[in-house]
Amino acid sequence: MAISDYPFIEAWRQVLTLSRLEAGQTVTILTSASTHPQTLSCATIAAQSLGAIVNRLDLPPVNGEKALSRDALAYLGTTPLTGNHAAIAALKASDLVLDLMTLLFSPEQHEILQTGTKILLAVEPPEVLMRMVPTQEDKTRVTAAAAHIQVAREMRVRSAAGTDLRCPLGEFPAISEYGFVDEPGRWDHWPSGFALTWPNEGGASGRIVIDRGDILLPQKCYVDDPITLTVENGYAVRIEGGLSASLLDDYMASFDDPEAYAISHIGWGLQPRARWSTLGLYDREATIGMDARAFEGNFLFSLGPNNEAGGSRTTACHIDIPLRRCTVSLDGRDMVADGKVLDQA
Ligand SMILES: [Fe+2]
Repeated sequence: MAISDYPFIEAWRQVLTLSRLEAGQTVTILTSASTHPQTLSCATIAAQSLGAIVNRLDLPPVNGEKALSRDALAYLGTTPLTGNHAAIAALKASDLVLDLMTLLFSPEQHEILQTGTKILLAVEPPEVLMRMVPTQEDKTRVTAAAAHIQVAREMRVRSAAGTDLRCPLGEFPAISEYGFVDEPGRWDHWPSGFALTWPNEGGASGRIVIDRGDILLPQKCYVDDPITLTVENGYAVRIEGGLSASLLDDYMASFDDPEAYAISHIGWGLQPRARWSTLGLYDREATIGMDARAFEGNFLFSLGPNNEAGGSRTTACHIDIPLRRCTVSLDGRDMVADGKVLDQA
């Protein structure tokens, strides 16, 4: 349903205030062909109302002819910033970048963040943003989970469906995504609400069963029949099952890249305002699936790159897979039991 401008502007003011935007700071709003016009206008008004100097930087889209999916997260190739020194300079000179374009992880984004510029991605449609306006409580919940991940040496994931995965930890940092950017050089995504890390390079092993009802992204579909991934030395070495497995296998094969099969980020959802069921209510073109990534108690894992965590793996293929009804433990202590987040206080 449509959203009125006034509450949407107020929501942006809340996010910008949580992001510690101050009068006189420079906000650059990154836009492209798919930017939602209401999100752009309401973000602009909110930033101006807080006294910021607001720019808009509109960049032409890339990768459309290479990607099999129209989803902006489906293909991690070059970005509109690749080799674009003028745009990079403008973003580095900004205090805050509102990414309404989907810049994605890239060397240029790292470079910009390192200068202290904050970047907040917000590309879901207005009604999804409004349902999941981030709060300080979101941050508290997510950073508490990330603190447990940060000191753990192993994440183990099991399910009645047959998942039994072991991931040694310690090489990569724990990351909190809670929906606003309150520290210099921070990247975040509104909406979100999950904690994650990456397995040590080459270390993940075991079996992942993507059960009926679990979700594939960017396919943005519920799996019809179980898919079994056999994981050895950090890679999914076999994809077995019925039609759902064949569709996943064919899509991944299109990238012709062995690095696509690496186990990438691992973690769990902590956002009670995100729902497993919303994907079935939306047109695939209307969302990037953040409800699926963030719903409370999922085990979210990914196949693809680890360069966003400081690793060396780059690949254009990036698949996010939230599983229901898993038990996630850190060093033998359950954090999520059968899809329910346990109170760690
Ligand atoms: Fe991902």
